[in-house]
Amino acid sequence: DKGLHKHFMAKEIAEQPQVIGEAVRHYLSEDGNSVDLPGDLDFTQVDRLTMVACGTAFYACLTAKYWFEQLAQLPVEVDIASEFRYREPPITKGTVALFVSQSGETADTLAALRYCEGKADSIVSVVNVSESSIARASDLSLPILAGVEVGVASTKAFTCQLTVLLMLALKAAEQRGTLSPERISDLLSRLRATPSILNAALEQDGAVAKAAQQLSESSDVLFLGRGLMYPLALEGALKLKEISYIHAEAYASGELKHGPIALIDKTMPVVVMAPYDALFDKTRSNMQEVLARGGKVVMITDEHGAHDTASDAWCTIVMPEIDPVLTPILYAIPAQLLAYHTAVAKGTDVDQPRNLAKSVTVE
Ligand code: M6R
Repeated sequence: DKGLHKHFMAKEIAEQPQVIGEAVRHYLSEDGNSVDLPGDLDFTQVDRLTMVACGTAFYACLTAKYWFEQLAQLPVEVDIASEFRYREPPITKGTVALFVSQSGETADTLAALRYCEGKADSIVSVVNVSESSIARASDLSLPILAGVEVGVASTKAFTCQLTVLLMLALKAAEQRGTLSPERISDLLSRLRATPSILNAALEQDGAVAKAAQQLSESSDVLFLGRGLMYPLALEGALKLKEISYIHAEAYASGELKHGPIALIDKTMPVVVMAPYDALFDKTRSNMQEVLARGGKVVMITDEHGAHDTASDAWCTIVMPEIDPVLTPILYAIPAQLLAYHTAVAKGTDVDQPRNLAKSVTVE
């Protein structure tokens, strides 16, 4: 049931504050200062975390790599399941293998998990469907509690995956003593407060729809992001191509001058995702490089960032302020809304885009 929404995707985007709130409550300890897992997982003796997934779930893993490395000082490898399974990489003891899948039935991800059986110290999964094959084959399975996701383009499952992965990284940080208990409890209370911040982001729907109207007339769009915004740029580009059929690709901002800058002209809008964080100045200079070549910039940033760049940007979408660690969960919303409104403007089948299946159970 779509309720008052025109599409399941719109409903699922709007549900995010609520489902993320539920996921946070589910994993929060009673005193609110720590993370409770539904089973044993000890990161103290772990040398390496190997994360494997496909599509949007792969981008959730790429985001989580920043968190596990920065918060828990844990080396992380992230791989696309179809590459991992045939490359047959060495998996040594001391490795936790982590599989992320909304459906829990993706053929390549399940095959990658089977490959790790008997090799990794433990097999963990982050899934939306608790009785799925991937969940059942894991030593520990963490539900993301997003509820049924109907839209083929994943939205609420992505942000719930991010939420659970961040909480897992905080658990690892606690066990490994890499963050102070105060910082952990501060981040957890900020996570608890995200639903109201996400609601404020959803109120930018009109501004995003205006930017989308412009994008819908383009045939190519470039997404740029740095740090935690780089995997999100990849996710934004995937969303846009899946449902609007506009060719979109994403680069780490620092890669711009290593190739893609050759594409810049007035016909290819560049979506820059850049909260005003420690990396903002770097991304702003990438934006200037785009402008100097006649490119048009759709800037997704916060008040502070908008103050510095709005006069140069083609359109600006302003997000609420948030702790830099939490930006991926927040900035997913404008990325999803941008794809959604562009698809609506183009009149494509938003919930059931051509050639795509919700669950890819064959190779
Ligand atoms: O069910 P899974 O999370 O394993 O699915 C992985 C991908 O097939 C999925 O994320 C796909 O990329 C979506 N259509 C993205 O919107």
